[in-house]
Amino acid sequence: MKINIFDSKKELYDAVALYVIDKVKSNPEIHLGLATGSTPVPLYERLIIDHKVNHTSYKKVKSFNLDEYIGLPRTHEQSYYTFMNNNLFKHIDITETYIPNGEASDILAEAKSYKELLEREGVDLQILGIGSNGHIGFNEPNTPFDSHVHIVDLAESTIKDNARFFEGNLDLVPKKAITMGIKDIIAAKEIVLIATGKAKSKAINEVVNGKVDTFVPATILQKHPNVHLYLDKDAASKL
Ligand code: GLP
Repeated sequence: MKINIFDSKKELYDAVALYVIDKVKSNPEIHLGLATGSTPVPLYERLIIDHKVNHTSYKKVKSFNLDEYIGLPRTHEQSYYTFMNNNLFKHIDITETYIPNGEASDILAEAKSYKELLEREGVDLQILGIGSNGHIGFNEPNTPFDSHVHIVDLAESTIKDNARFFEGNLDLVPKKAITMGIKDIIAAKEIVLIATGKAKSKAINEVVNGKVDTFVPATILQKHPNVHLYLDKDAASKL
């Protein structure tokens, strides 16, 4: 695990953006695994600026998102479909993007076909955030490490964490989601996990120093041969 710690968020995001842009330039057909939440937004902002200024192209890039809420229309501002369009896709020249469909009438069939898509295509570089309880994607504590794309009930702590995106109202937060499983996530050739802020410091300490245990899903990253952590001082403060 390579651990990069930065004094400021700006330095962190400048560095991680450079890293990702280099990967896209050296492999214009790269398969990117993408994440949502507030953490990747400043990375996406930098990818957009670089695309506009330096013309880094995403024409041949394919992207695969980690997860999506169930029970939220795609058009809802907080659906990950709309989030990705607003925060990245509509600003760059990417054409082939995949996000699990949380509105599918047969959600189990959707999970199966997303798993098969991932197996067929493979992810080269997976961008990850982390939940304060150590979840990755929407793999909440106690998700088996050999899980594939599946339907989850969100943990109470995640519903509370995410209420900030839903007018602070717990009742408005979807209670279910469809997510890549842990096995799908760690199948990526390379993983970049970004974490900022004190609220993530406990989970980050577990990821680096804790026992590999399903109770903190992200501890599985210790077993992956090619993981880069990008942390600000606050997220790294318990290391
Ligand atoms: C969400 C997403 C995760 C994300 C995490 C952290 O629930 N499903 O992919 O990493 O929570 O969110 P944030 O970056 O806003 O702290």
